[in-house]
Amino acid sequence: MSYEFTQLDKDAAAPMPSADELAGTFELNKSDHERTEAEAAALLQDMGFGVKFSDYMAHATWTAEKGWHDKRIEPYGPLSLDPAGSVLHYGQEVFEGLKAYRHEDGSVWSFRPAYNAARLNKSNRRLAIPHLPHEDFVASIVDLVRADERYVPTGEGTSLYLRPFIFASEAFLGVRSAARFEYMVIASPSGAYFEHGFQPIRLWVEREYHRAGPGGMGDAKTGGNYASSLLPKVVAHDKGYDECLFLDAATNTNLDELGGMNVFVVMADGSVKTPKLTGNILPGGTRSSILQLLESQGVKATEETIAYDELVAGIEKGDVAEMFACGTAAVVTSIGSLTGEDFHIELEMGEVTKKVYKDLTDIQLGRAEDKFGWLYRLA
Ligand code: COI
Repeated sequence: MSYEFTQLDKDAAAPMPSADELAGTFELNKSDHERTEAEAAALLQDMGFGVKFSDYMAHATWTAEKGWHDKRIEPYGPLSLDPAGSVLHYGQEVFEGLKAYRHEDGSVWSFRPAYNAARLNKSNRRLAIPHLPHEDFVASIVDLVRADERYVPTGEGTSLYLRPFIFASEAFLGVRSAARFEYMVIASPSGAYFEHGFQPIRLWVEREYHRAGPGGMGDAKTGGNYASSLLPKVVAHDKGYDECLFLDAATNTNLDELGGMNVFVVMADGSVKTPKLTGNILPGGTRSSILQLLESQGVKATEETIAYDELVAGIEKGDVAEMFACGTAAVVTSIGSLTGEDFHIELEMGEVTKKVYKDLTDIQLGRAEDKFGWLYRLA
């Protein structure tokens, strides 16, 4: 069965002006407290994930009268938000995650930014947030990365992680869609997502709590889905696990996702499976890219309903060889063990997982041919 492009894949394939054509859409307000070269270089040591931030941020505002306006790059810093700002009360918010990569020749690239633009708008629609033109999304990335170019690190497993987000900023306590929104992008020079680097992760199969349910917001990238994953994650962390594997809310039997990552299963015959997009799972850009990449290599890669008890039995029998998690932040991370109330199974970090990681990151870092046209030059 061949991979069927989602609407996001199709939207992401539409022509996009070059970075030079988009540059300047977000006007630079120069900071008078930029870090010195030495301070910026120091910040690129021991980066961790999402804990250090660059000098600038992108910002635009939406009102019914003016639409998206005041598109600017401004100094990174705290926001002033009315305590009645509706995001603080009703969570009307969406976000994205993508990366800027430094290639060996010094140039800076992003990976499928139009996919993130399209997904942001899919999330916007579910959260009743106004559409942001894809060109504005990509322009904000171009202008921010050009202002903060020195924060795009070099070195294996590093990148400038970009976090676009939109939130309701109108000061109003009625439950209705807000009349004012802020779009922002912040940038964080980052290494591996997990504290222990790219080591295999230990998963807890969560059967009490679900991250999303039918008709909910599971396929939107919105804070509420992540908030609902936090308590089960705290409980799992306390027991020594890195992440939860969430099951579908309707039957509590099928694999959904990890909360911040999609999940893949590698069979002993080399074929690969991932849970199909039911509306409760985030349509990951990394997920879509891996499916296309495997298919182009002649690997059978399918989107299916994956029952958790069949998965456990398959691992015990040796029909399942490997599992991995994937996402922009986590890239491709091997799953080292799966544990539930009544079982514990260890998994090998296998060759397929290693190859998927290498093939994907080789494209992102310009070390392999970009046959799919996924790279977009930022600077
Ligand atoms: C990403 O992979 O970029 C994500 O947004 C997942 C997580 C860090 C929330």
